[in-house]
Amino acid sequence: MDRNIRTVEDVLKLLDDLFTPEADRWTSDAAVWWDTFYADRSKPVPFFAAKPDENLASYVDRRLFTPGRALDLGCGPGRNALYLDSHGFQVDAVDLSPAAVGWAEERAGEAGAGIRFHRGDAFALAGTELSGRYDLIYDSGCFHHLPPHRRISYLALLDQLLAPGGYFALTCFTDAETGGSGLPDAAFYRDARLHGGLAYTSQSLRRIFSDLTEVELRLMRDEPPESAHFGEPFLWTALFRRDA
Ligand SMILES: C[S@@+](CC[C@H](N)C(=O)[O-])C[C@H]1O[C@@H](n2cnc3c(N)ncnc32)[C@H](O)[C@@H]1O
Repeated sequence: MDRNIRTVEDVLKLLDDLFTPEADRWTSDAAVWWDTFYADRSKPVPFFAAKPDENLASYVDRRLFTPGRALDLGCGPGRNALYLDSHGFQVDAVDLSPAAVGWAEERAGEAGAGIRFHRGDAFALAGTELSGRYDLIYDSGCFHHLPPHRRISYLALLDQLLAPGGYFALTCFTDAETGGSGLPDAAFYRDARLHGGLAYTSQSLRRIFSDLTEVELRLMRDEPPESAHFGEPFLWTALFRRDA
């Protein structure tokens, strides 16, 4: 007989398990899927290029925040972590995928960057390997791969790791044709898969992150291939600040 639910984490785990194993992009078991995704570095995936998000560069150029401790959450091959390091931040970067972290470490070695990399589930590492407070938590493309219930873990991570007065920045799918799925939250559980990632509206982001103060929320600018920055118009870019 299975009567194992005792804590909120037990419920979150039960909800994780409602999804088929093939649909998993967010638990430590998804490392294999992401490793396969990153195995061929010559694939024409826009975010494989080693250039930062245009919104991140614009925050730094406009001095919306100053260098401090930064966490790149779901860093992939490390393009935004490298940018932050080169602009004076002390960067921690975490990803589920050993292949992604290995690639990011190679890039950091070539650039002489002093980034501290962590392999594993960011939510499990919060408070252990990922400790202290960050002045900036940056997430480009991780949040929209989480099932709805894991927003609870995400908000708990922000609560635990974001410094008072610190900034949280996010890029995630809109419901544009090339963006994420606009299905209602419950449909993902019925279908047992995430349909390539979840679309968000500006109102839903404001509601989810309503404990923080909005600094800027806009569509990402479309950047041409020759640009020094990454930019796709099917993504939101959002910057929030935690009260001091
Ligand atoms: C779309 S990729 C974006 C990679 C990178 N941020 C970029 O923009 O180049 C999403 C990344 O989130 C990572 N990820 C998903 N769930 C995670 C979790 N629970 N903890 C750490 N990383 C996670 C995946 O391994 C994947 O590399």
